[in-house]
Amino acid sequence: MITLKINNKQIEVEEGTSVMKAAQQMGVEIPNMCTHNELEHFTSCMVCMVKDQSNGKLFPSCSVEATNGLEVVTDDDEIKESRQTALELLLSEHVGDCEAPCQIGCPAHMDIPKMNRLIAAGKFDEALKVVKKDIALPAVLGRICSAPCENACHRKTVDEPISICLLKRIVGDDGNTVDLNSPNPTGKKVVVIGAGPAGLAAAYYLQIKGVQVTLVDKNKKAGGLLRTAIDDEILPKNVLDKEIDLIVKTGVEFRGGEEINTELFELFKNKFDAIIIATGAISENPEIFGLKAGPKGIIADRNTYETSEEKIFAIGNVLRSSRMAVRSVGQGKEVAFSVMQFFNKQGIKGDPRIFNSRFGRLVADEFAEYIKESVEGQRVLPENGGYSGFSKEEAIAEAKRCLHCDCRAIDECKLREYSDQYNVNQRRFKTSQRRNITKQINHGSVIYEPQKCIRCGICVRLTEKYGEEFGFTYIGRGFDVEIGIPFDEELEKGLTKIAVKVAEGCPTGAISLKKNRE
Ligand code: SF4
Ligand code: SF4
Ligand code: SF4
Ligand code: FES
Repeated sequence: MITLKINNKQIEVEEGTSVMKAAQQMGVEIPNMCTHNELEHFTSCMVCMVKDQSNGKLFPSCSVEATNGLEVVTDDDEIKESRQTALELLLSEHVGDCEAPCQIGCPAHMDIPKMNRLIAAGKFDEALKVVKKDIALPAVLGRICSAPCENACHRKTVDEPISICLLKRIVGDDGNTVDLNSPNPTGKKVVVIGAGPAGLAAAYYLQIKGVQVTLVDKNKKAGGLLRTAIDDEILPKNVLDKEIDLIVKTGVEFRGGEEINTELFELFKNKFDAIIIATGAISENPEIFGLKAGPKGIIADRNTYETSEEKIFAIGNVLRSSRMAVRSVGQGKEVAFSVMQFFNKQGIKGDPRIFNSRFGRLVADEFAEYIKESVEGQRVLPENGGYSGFSKEEAIAEAKRCLHCDCRAIDECKLREYSDQYNVNQRRFKTSQRRNITKQINHGSVIYEPQKCIRCGICVRLTEKYGEEFGFTYIGRGFDVEIGIPFDEELEKGLTKIAVKVAEGCPTGAISLKKNRE
């Protein structure tokens, strides 16, 4: 047996154990990308660096064996920096979008490609569930949103963007799902002041998280500017009423006709565990709330919406006037995260956003690759004009135009996970010329996107081990080496037996399962 120290704790391991495995035995996880539990170490990614305490030298923990008396540190500033640099180098050649640009462009951060896939498959109810994770008022926004997502759509650069807004609208119109999956009651009570788009969304997301929400508004009916400032032809009242009704049905107590004043606000402070101010642009009299305010409105943290007073949050136009209702609806969702973090005493950080690799504009050659998973053709237009919205058939046809720009490995990719953890800068080692994206999709269960490959060799070694006739191999030399199927064969020839194992072993989304994110 070998005795060594890891982070000042002694451990005994069998001879031949790598430092990484020894650390794992102690419950210390070291980031790694080119390891696989069925394969010998390969030492290519260099994200697993640790430090020899005796001489301060860094070494890759996956390939160095534990020796008697070795003392290892697995985490300090220098180690962090070296891992960060290793990841930035891997990203310097990496071309891919983690989340689709439309999702990043949406102020409510809606999972648009997933919605599109479900619509294309005719699954409107499931699509509604996806939409309502981020947007509490889809039928309303489907009529009035200025659609910054469509502006960001990759298809726009070479063709016409997907009609995301109209797709969301039909999903909202068609669905009747009320989230009554009775979450565990938290015993917490929150009052939301103002029942416009921001307040309605905040009420909805807190209520479905098990908080008892009281929603008050000076007007008898909820809706705020949605009710008073938008033409009935654009947003019919019955559409607004239906979506408000769905929110109230989750258990929100709505009290209309309740004008807020200093006395009532003080009462709320005593009675409720948290207060959300969503009164719209009534910063005419912010002194009611006694909070710090600037010329544009109440001052709150941009990410968490905390105001100058504990347990009081502010969202929507009361912070800064905006004509984009989707921004307010998005803030309603985000503030719910902050309030829950406040209740759980986790430290208030707001809605978690994680690292996103982005490559920028899609070029014409790449469009030819992306279209392989989509259909040709211009936008589908509603037969009876824009106000009428899509029929289901039209919606299905339009959703099929989506290019599926999101990475299928988004939830498993180690490159994304570690890039987030080590706060990497994707641009640090970027060269000016980026490689064009190619997609190999002609396999039953997996897709290969070479520009997401980090050349870890796991696929090469796995296909060798399991006796694939062609398998994967290294093609080219030096810096230009790429991974591919020998003799330019099709992906199907390379992966006849162990496609799923290889996709699961690939540390990035270079080889991914087709069924992921469906
Ligand atoms: S491979 Fe990973 S880092 Fe790259 S786009 Fe996919 S999820 Fe993002
Ligand atoms: S083509 Fe689809 S996934 Fe890509 S940006 Fe447009 S809507 Fe989003
Ligand atoms: S394609 Fe192969 S070499 Fe490239 S990252 Fe995936 S497993 Fe590694
Ligand atoms: S070099 Fe150790 S995990 Fe990649």
